Amino acid sequence: MQKIFETIKEVALQIDQLIVNEDTGYVDGTNATGDQQLKLDVACDLLIEKAFSGNPEVCALISEEKEEVMQCHSEGKYTLCYDPLDGSSIVDANLAVGSIFAIYDGAPSGETLAGAAYVVFGPRIELVTVTRGESPLRYRYTHGAYQPFHPIALQEKGKLNASGGSQKHWQEKHMAFIHGLFASGYRLRYSGGMVPDLHQILVKGGGLFSYPSTTDNPNGKLRVLFEVLPFALIFEAAGGEAIDEKGRPLLELTVTHPHARTPCFFGSHHEIRMLKEAYGVA
Ligand code: AHG
Ligand code: MN
Ligand code: MN
Repeated sequence: MQKIFETIKEVALQIDQLIVNEDTGYVDGTNATGDQQLKLDVACDLLIEKAFSGNPEVCALISEEKEEVMQCHSEGKYTLCYDPLDGSSIVDANLAVGSIFAIYDGAPSGETLAGAAYVVFGPRIELVTVTRGESPLRYRYTHGAYQPFHPIALQEKGKLNASGGSQKHWQEKHMAFIHGLFASGYRLRYSGGMVPDLHQILVKGGGLFSYPSTTDNPNGKLRVLFEVLPFALIFEAAGGEAIDEKGRPLLELTVTHPHARTPCFFGSHHEIRMLKEAYGVA
């Protein structure tokens, strides 16, 4: 898996160059899940495909931007699932965006997730990697190299609150819960990019990120294989929790479709406990 992390380090620098230099407009048509695609989404996807399709450890690639699973080396051990560019809708506003990678040992599911990584393209490039059973590692790219940086570790309770979806479509219990968090002193931190939003909670030591089921998106918006499970592994490894609306750990999810979605919640223990009570799944 180390070789995969090394390739992620290299490809992240190429993605950064694309973000800086390429056109941020849309292509005609939509991706596998019906989202509008930026030229950047497509270009980042191709870069990652090129970087990994020759790796004999990789048996298949599953990308947010590809409808079909791409088979690579039949002898390979890992299926690599990735969101090449997360936050396409905020690129034009020049906000931080990211890339997310999940490394599955065998058929992808919560149980087979063996490692994960994400890259934040903000004022600086940061990379967080995790191997199952180990603590997350954080790097900052400075002076032409990835430098190990302050480790991320969640405290029992945080201060930040980030919830996705339109409030108009939230369930009443979600609305009441989120208002309760604000009333008790939590601060709103939500950019619309899950990578910087979750990274901020990890770096600041805690809080809650929610993407619940809504009346317009009954399964939420975020995709299990390349958005939800990799962050679930990183949150658990950082000493936090990641659950669905029924209070089940996301890492117990089985996956029926490469582009399946699920409602999801990532946070420190205190906020997850309060969420379970509010949702009646404690
Ligand atoms: P992507 O750009 O890969 O399609 O993902 C965007 C996601 C995620 O980053 C973010 O948390 C969420 O969309 C924001 O959705 P809302 O605007 O509905 O809150
Ligand atoms: Mn995404
Ligand atoms: Mn994306």
